[in-house]
This record gives sequence, structure tokens and C-alpha cells, in this order.
Amino acid sequence: MNGLPEAGRPVDELLGELARLREDDLPVRGGNVTAYVYDTGRPEVHEAAARAHLEMLEVNCLDPTAFPSIVALERQLVDAVAERLGGGTSSGIFTSGGTESIMLAVKAARDARAVDRPQVVAPSTAHPAFAKAVHYLGMELVSVAVDPVTFRVSPEAITAALTPNTVLVVVSAPSYAHGVIDPVAEVAAIAAEAGVPCHVDACVGGWVLPWLRENGRDVPPFDLSVDGVTSISCDLHKYGYAPKGASVVLFADEAMRRRAYFAAAGWPGYPVINTTVQSSRSGGPLGAAWATFQALGADGYRSLAAEAMRSAERLIAGVAEIPGLRVLGSPEAPLVAVTSDDPELSVFALADEARSRGWFFQVQLSHGHSPPNLHFTLTGVSAGRVEAMLATLNESAKAAREAGPPDVPAELTEALESLDLDAIDDAGFAGLLAAVGVELGGAEPEMAMVNAIMDGLPVETREALLVRFLSVLYSGRL
Ligand SMILES: Cc1ncc(COP(=O)(O)O)c(C=O)c1O
Repeated sequence: MNGLPEAGRPVDELLGELARLREDDLPVRGGNVTAYVYDTGRPEVHEAAARAHLEMLEVNCLDPTAFPSIVALERQLVDAVAERLGGGTSSGIFTSGGTESIMLAVKAARDARAVDRPQVVAPSTAHPAFAKAVHYLGMELVSVAVDPVTFRVSPEAITAALTPNTVLVVVSAPSYAHGVIDPVAEVAAIAAEAGVPCHVDACVGGWVLPWLRENGRDVPPFDLSVDGVTSISCDLHKYGYAPKGASVVLFADEAMRRRAYFAAAGWPGYPVINTTVQSSRSGGPLGAAWATFQALGADGYRSLAAEAMRSAERLIAGVAEIPGLRVLGSPEAPLVAVTSDDPELSVFALADEARSRGWFFQVQLSHGHSPPNLHFTLTGVSAGRVEAMLATLNESAKAAREAGPPDVPAELTEALESLDLDAIDDAGFAGLLAAVGVELGGAEPEMAMVNAIMDGLPVETREALLVRFLSVLYSGRL
């Protein structure tokens, strides 16, 4: 591989090469990919974002006194989000994404109270960004089992998990995996009673639920207007339809927001003051998120939310007609998890069949009472695609049933569980993957066997294998 050419190359050639490299990527527009990307179906909105991104590209958010445009844009965005999420005054931070918003909310909670082993209490359905935050911040996650049917956490279970070391309680509105909203008001009241802050993870739902409510739907209270809720995260690069790198975390209390900040003046260089985990960062995502807000307006978001939710309801109704398939829980946002009750119909095989038909249905592995399933995030563009999506689901289910579920040799699962990963290097691991027939290159990798193997393994083994897989992937050995 030749990373750096000796002589510079012309832009057309570079863009041509990027286009070729992207040929095997999933499409980011069009509604055939049910995760990762959010498409309004309105090209002019995405164009406005792209041009604003370019305008702000080289502005460095490191120093807001040097680049006051970033303060003006951030304040407008944060105010707009706060207005819809019960925030009232501007007391938020623009971040690079859900994980960073959550990291900052967890840091603020940790720094609010001196405790030896600070704990975060969260439902087992909470996004792994909380596990990551506690890992990075030297804290502990207390995971609370959810109801096996509704997949919501119960207020009683949260109460039982509280200890003198609890510094933060978490709920999701909604959870990514099943699209259901935890009982925010009840849990926030329990947290307040215990004198503990409560964070609502509305990363995925925060910019769709308010519009569904404004459209007249029944949305339970979930935001900063609820007593006891002290912070909330809302990703603009999800249902805000902004390009990636855009989220907002709001705090009910300005002192809490300041605890998310970081300052360092004890070195001979420039004084460092950061609102986020990152220090130097491009103004591009901020400009693009601002432009997306301005290009869509409240009206645009109301109709996109209506279209996405109608599509989700059509999907749910359609799934009920497909033998063997069933929706998990009762989604309250346009996120739907579809499982199989038929042992002959593997959702992993179904996902591969769909991929060969030009669709990407995201696989979710089993966890607790949640069986393996396929995830569908419906967006604005889905309205015109949901019938085709259902037809693909139907055809792929038939084909997957005919093909049968992947046959994972029991010896393989046992061997993987007892494998000493520390004893093999990346080259050895790559050889092992090749030996069991794992071939993940190209536009239509066959994942059913890999997913079935992963599904049968304990969480720790899954995680260790994922790290090794990533290492091998980036070392170019696959
Ligand atoms: C509920 C929820 N929280 C947090 C995150 C993490 O967001 P990000 O991938 O932007 O870091 C996600 C992402 O899907 C999410 O759905």
C-alpha cells in the first residue's frame, strides 16, 4: 500500500479514487440500509449541510474567542434543542455524538460528588456508551435487568440497585435496541428522592419524540421538564438528520454543565479550556447541523417524524403477516426489532438473504431475554420504501427458511470459549478466521455463520473476539 505519493495528485483523480473505494460501502441514501444512516429523502437539505460543512471545515472549535462564529452557532442549536426538550435556558454543549454527550453527562455526575467507587445505575438495555464512559472515567456500571416482555426497566428494580455509591441513574427515551421508553418520570422521582442525578438518554429519540407529540401522538413525559431529570442527550446526527459529528447534551443546572468542562493552565503553552472530550476539532459538523436545522425548520421535522413513524407502524403490521416473524416489545419511536420464533428461520440467515437482494438489515445478538433479532431504524425516506422493505423481508424469510439456520459445530464454540487470545498474534488470528471459513470482504459478506457463532458465546468472549477482529482488520491481514 502506498499511503503517501511522492508528488501531489490532481483533485479529480483523488475524488475518482474515493468513489471507487466507496463502491463496496453501503449506500447512505435511499432507505435500503436500516441502521447507521438517516435520510430525509430531501436532497436539498443534505446539500445545504454539505456546503455549510465545507464553509466551516477549517474553523477550529478549540478557541471560541478566536472563532466567535462557533459560539453563535452552538448557542442557536443548543437553544433550539432546549426549547423542545424542556430545557428553558441555554445550558448545554454541542458534542461530536451520543457517546461524547453521555461521557460528559457521566463525568459531570462523577465530579458532583466525592465517592470512592462511583456507580452508574442503568437498565441492561442502555446503550454501551455508558459502559464506555464508566470504563474511561474509572467508575462502575450497575446493570439492571428489564422486563422480559416490554423491555422497560421497572422503577422497583432501579430502587433495589441504588447504593450509597450511586452518582447517576440512567433511563432511555427510547432504547436503541427495542424503541421503547423507560418509565422516565417514576425513575427520575426515585433518583431525586435519593438525591442522585438522573440522565435521560434521548440520543436516538430526542429529536423525533417532540415532533411526534406536536403531531398529536401520545408521548409520555421524558425530558428536562420532568422533575428529577438533570441531564439529557439528543443526537442531531440521528433524527436531526445532520451529518455525523453532531449531538447536544443539556443540563438542568448550569453548575452541572460546568462540571462537564475541562480546563488546564498548568503548562507553558496556551491555556486549555474544553467543553468537550475533544480539544482541536473542526467547525464543520457544527455548521452542517445548524444548516440542517435551518433548512428543515420545525415544519420539516414534524413531517419527517410523521413519515418515519407511519413507516414503522406499516412495518410492524406487515411483520405480523409474515410467518415465523414477530416484533419485540411495542416500539414508541420509529425503531423496530424483528425476531424469529421458528427454529428453522434464522434472522442471521435472513439478514444475508436481504443483503444479497440489496438491503441491509442490522443484526442484534441475543442478550438477557432479548432473542437475536433484526433492527430497523425508519427515517423520513422510509415512507416510499417500506413496502419494498416488507417484500424483501418476506422473500428473505422464505429463502432463509429453505437454506436452514447456520450449523455451528459445538466444538467450535467450546474451542473459542477456551481460546487463549493472548497467546496468538494478529497473523495467527487471521489464519484461524480463514480456517473456519470467515471471509468478510466485498459488498455482500456472508455473516450468518459469524453471527451465529458470536450469539452462542458469553459476552466477555464476544468482546475479546471483536477486539481481535478489529485489530486484524486494520492490520490489513483479512
Ligand atoms: C440510545 C443511544 N444512545 C447512545 C448512542 C451512541 O451514539 P453515537 O453512536 O452517536 O456515539 C446511540 C447510538 O445509536 C443510541 O441509540
